[in-house]
Amino acid sequence: MTPNPFLQLVQARHSVRGFLDTPVADHDLHDVLEHARLAPSGANLQPGSFVHVKGAVRDALSANLVRAWQGGLAEVEDYDYFPKPMPMTLRRRQVAAAQALYGALGVARDDRAGRDAQFERNFRFFDAPVALVVTMEHGFGSGGYMDLGMTLYGLMLAAQAKGLATCAIGALASYPSLIRQHLGLNTSSVIVCGIALGYADPAATVNQTRTTRCELNDYFKVVG
Ligand SMILES: Cc1cc2nc3c(=O)[nH]c(=O)nc-3n(C[C@H](O)[C@H](O)[C@H](O)COP(=O)(O)O)c2cc1C
Repeated sequence: MTPNPFLQLVQARHSVRGFLDTPVADHDLHDVLEHARLAPSGANLQPGSFVHVKGAVRDALSANLVRAWQGGLAEVEDYDYFPKPMPMTLRRRQVAAAQALYGALGVARDDRAGRDAQFERNFRFFDAPVALVVTMEHGFGSGGYMDLGMTLYGLMLAAQAKGLATCAIGALASYPSLIRQHLGLNTSSVIVCGIALGYADPAATVNQTRTTRCELNDYFKVVG
C-alpha cells in the first residue's frame, strides 16, 4: 500500500528539545499558526492565543523563570494539569516518559544536577529560535482546553509538515503571574503552556528521546 503522507507525519512527529540556530521565517510561523487554527472547536469559539516572545523580553522572561524555579518560588497555577493524587497507571507512564528523556541524555536516575539542568532548559524554551506562550481567555472550562489541545496538535503537525519541530512546555504553567507580568497581560489571560519551535538539531542527543504508547485495548473497547 502507498504510504499515506499525513499518517507518515503523525508517525514522525515527536517532541524535540534541541534546535539549530537557523531562524524560522515569519511567513512559515504564520502559516503554521493559520493551519493550526483550522482545528474544530465547540460553537467555533476558537479559544486560545499565541504570543511570540522575542528579543530582550524573551531573555528577561527566561532569566526570571529560571530564577523563580531555582529559588523554589511557588505560584498558584491557573489550571490543574495532573490528577491529584496520580493513579499508579498514569504515574508509570510519567516515569517511562522521564526515563526516555533522561535515558537519551545519559542522565542517571540519581543524577539530580543532570536532571535539573535539563529541566531548566524548559524555561529557556530549549533555546529554540521561536518561543511561543499559549494563553486562553479566562473562564473556559474543560471544553476550552479540549479545543485548544486540538489546535496545539494541529500546530505540531503543520510544523512537522514544513520540516519544523516542536515541544510543548507545560512547565511554564507553574509561573502564570510572572509570565503575565513580562508579557503585559492581565488575569483575563490564562497561561496554558509554552511551545518551542524550530529546526531540529540532528546532533542533539536529547532528540533521540522516543516514547511509546499503551496498547489499543488499554483505551478502546467495544460494547454491544
Ligand atoms: C501539553 C503538553 C505539555 C508538555 N510539557 C512538557 C514540558 O514542560 N517539558 C518537556 O520536556 N516536555 C513536555 N511535553 C512533551 C511530552 O513529554 C511529550 O509529548 C510526551 O512525552 C510524548 O512524547 P512525544 O511528544 O515525543 O511523542 C509536553 C507535552 C504536552 C502535550
